[in-house]
Amino acid sequence: MKILVSGLGGHMGREVARLAQSGCRGARLAAGVDVNGCADFGVPCALSFSEACADVDCIVDFSNHKATAELLDFALTHRLPLVLATTGQTEEERAAIVKAAEQIPVFFAANYSLGVALLLELAKRAAAVMSDAEIEIVEIHHNRKLDAPSGTALALAEAIQEVRPDSTLSMGRSGHAKRTKQEIGIQSVRMGNIVGIHEVMVGTANETVTLRHEAYSRALFAEGALAAAQFLMGKGPGLYNMQSMLAL
Ligand SMILES: NC(=O)c1ccc[n+]([C@@H]2O[C@H](COP(=O)([O-])OP(=O)(O)OC[C@H]3O[C@@H](n4cnc5c(N)ncnc54)[C@H](O)[C@@H]3O)[C@@H](O)[C@H]2O)c1
Repeated sequence: MKILVSGLGGHMGREVARLAQSGCRGARLAAGVDVNGCADFGVPCALSFSEACADVDCIVDFSNHKATAELLDFALTHRLPLVLATTGQTEEERAAIVKAAEQIPVFFAANYSLGVALLLELAKRAAAVMSDAEIEIVEIHHNRKLDAPSGTALALAEAIQEVRPDSTLSMGRSGHAKRTKQEIGIQSVRMGNIVGIHEVMVGTANETVTLRHEAYSRALFAEGALAAAQFLMGKGPGLYNMQSMLAL
């Protein structure tokens, strides 16, 4: 499986490239795209998709949401399966992703970790069982992260909203008003080199259940993205996610 890595020169792009070069999940690094270039892996790396090599079996994207339009255009033109791991897309960009999935297979997940896929299920279950409990999500990441809240925190909130349709999201907290019962609070912390921590606190006046996931290494997400690429081989058009792969 020949892969093109979008965002090849970035932290995650490099992890994917290293794993692909070691043959992880049957992948072989064939090409890259990065606005800032990257000559470190001995494969052609274009500065934009207009010059990119299309002789690949799948695209794995860990770049910036601003690349979405160009990336989708390239994938659609060449009929290439796409693993989208970049986070922080606007509503408009998300709509374009959903539309593209009508024509090509698109794997779109805010977090490629198996443990986080499990956390999503557990959080939904806790919110349903403890139906009167208040819910707060805390996410902690390294100081280079651009988007807040994290895509995973938003995915957790969306999963909880499936069983709490009347809930509202509240990002950050300041001022003098009390929280409302329906609120799902999301708090973002940025510091140092923390790979990623997500906590879902589900609490009543008498007890609190805290579900916590901590990622130790970025290689976790890179391997998950390559597993997703492998999963997409031979699949028809559609929007796939971790739940599709794990059939949870
Ligand atoms: N889904 C997941 O499991 C997961 C895990 C980790 C990171 N991420 C996301 O992946 C993205 C990249 O993270 P990172 O830590 O590697 O960031 P990074 O800043 O280290 O790397 C991003 C790379 O993309 C390149 N880039 C920027 N704009 C581009 C464009 N328009 N076209 C092509 N390349 C472009 C940059 O030059 C850079 O090399 C972020 O959105 C991050 O939130 C997702």
